[in-house]
Amino acid sequence: MTEHTSPYDTTALTKPATRLRIPQLKQMKVEGRKWAMLTAYDMYSAVIFEDAGIPVLLVGDSASNNVFGNDSTLAVTVDELLPLVRAVTRSTRRALVIADLPFGSYQVSPEQCLQTAVRFMKEAGAHAVKIEGGVELLPHIAKLSVSGIPVMAHIGFTPQMEHQLGGYRVQGRGEDGQRLIDSAKALEAAGAFALLIEMVPGDVGAAITQAVAIPTVGIGAGNQCDAQVLVWQDMAGLRQGRLPRFVKQYADLRSVLQTAARDFADDVQAGTFPGPEHTF
Ligand code: KIV
Repeated sequence: MTEHTSPYDTTALTKPATRLRIPQLKQMKVEGRKWAMLTAYDMYSAVIFEDAGIPVLLVGDSASNNVFGNDSTLAVTVDELLPLVRAVTRSTRRALVIADLPFGSYQVSPEQCLQTAVRFMKEAGAHAVKIEGGVELLPHIAKLSVSGIPVMAHIGFTPQMEHQLGGYRVQGRGEDGQRLIDSAKALEAAGAFALLIEMVPGDVGAAITQAVAIPTVGIGAGNQCDAQVLVWQDMAGLRQGRLPRFVKQYADLRSVLQTAARDFADDVQAGTFPGPEHTF
């Protein structure tokens, strides 16, 4: 009798459902255990990263560039991000999945922020959300927090404000560093469960990490943060062109995929694929 196997990898569905929880992240800071976070926007990347031991996945608004082909994060919408978050939560069993709230979907008011966050929790199964900004977001963070929605605040360089900030620039240099440390403390007091710190001098990343009891996740913020995050296509070498200084490329997937695609095309042109073993 022929054995019928699923064409899809369903291993994730059989894993024990022990999701990482926010208190565990806080405990890891207490114990000085660092952790890694990656972006993920689909089932395969999410399952691969979870299996590799990445405890936290971010469905970033960087999907705007890395999935939808826009030239900034500003264009992506809630309706575009929701299915990506759903794919990541549905296909993982252990990772904590954070949904990025896109530009314009939370800045208007704490109420708008809550409504958008609720959509990501209800319709996509997100476990937490992330929003970009400093003290102007204290009421938004307090609103989410009392409503039971864990929120990560993104400070330092905030890509959704690239036009106001004059492009991709390091933030918190000189005296501005203290402003960032003060906002980090205020965001913690308002209820943020973690801080993502982007593109600040290493000593500012370290000072913020010292100043707060919640975990800090750095991207271009030095190695003293409690965790580090990278966009997965940068980390794995899918992206073409000049990479930001904070990126370390751990693989060259672009070449691997190009070679595979070329080999496939060559085989088809030569008539060597499909072979007898692929033919019914
Ligand atoms: O959307 C994103 O990918 C981010 C990065 C800074 C990790 O927020």
